Amino acid sequence: MRVDSLFYRLAYRSGTPRWDSTQPRPELTELAKGRAPGRALDLGCGTGSDVLYLAGLGWDATGVDFAPRAIATARSRAAASGSPASFTVGDVTRLRQAGVGGQFDLVIDIGCYHAIPASRRDAYRDEVAAATRPGGDLYLAGVTNPPATWRLLGARGLSARDLRRRFGPDFELADQQTAGQIGRAGTIVFYHLVRRRPGVADAAGDITAASASTGPGSERPAQRLRASCGTSAMPS
Ligand SMILES: C[S@@+](CC[C@H](N)C(=O)[O-])C[C@H]1O[C@@H](n2cnc3c(N)ncnc32)[C@H](O)[C@@H]1O
Repeated sequence: MRVDSLFYRLAYRSGTPRWDSTQPRPELTELAKGRAPGRALDLGCGTGSDVLYLAGLGWDATGVDFAPRAIATARSRAAASGSPASFTVGDVTRLRQAGVGGQFDLVIDIGCYHAIPASRRDAYRDEVAAATRPGGDLYLAGVTNPPATWRLLGARGLSARDLRRRFGPDFELADQQTAGQIGRAGTIVFYHLVRRRPGVADAAGDITAASASTGPGSERPAQRLRASCGTSAMPS
């Protein structure tokens, strides 16, 4: 078993991990506002708060996480509230193997990709590209510069450079919000990528920041993200 998988399994087995919340992430509630429901996928869904929230808004919502205890909790919460949300135990770098089929309108990843080891990132990209319908949205939130303890688990963080290089042929970077420096966890960033339609790419096959929002005026969304993730949203 990989060390990151072991870490998360143990974290959920030993009680409530520090990042866990029974509330949906504020940045998700923000982006879901006024949006027509469709199919949604939460990668690294934990105990399912974001999936339950989307299902409550009428989305056909699915969560995937490789920690069996987290998914058991998510399923119990769904059953207790009569939610149609569905949950699958699986590795997000092996979605199809886990039986999670594609063409989602909305894919979210709050604190999962940034801890995916370098050796599994291309597989993650392939799976997520296959799972997102052309024109569909992918939102990724994570830290840019993980502390040494996270790096021992293989975490490499989240950066525009990595996304540009790895996701460029499949996704366009539509927006990014910087949350500033947060304790040991470094800078937290919230990226919005849009799945390219077949045959539509930049000349370089690269992604471009269509409306990067890191300048003046980006403070409010950054603060929302900071409030939701804090230093405890990720492994530490
Ligand atoms: C920091 S937690 C965030 C959980 C949830 N998104 C939230 O906001 O509360 C990261 C989650 O990603 C899951 N995870 C990490 N790597 C994964 C992988 N390769 N496949 C599936 N789940 C993974 C962990 O088990 C954990 O639940």
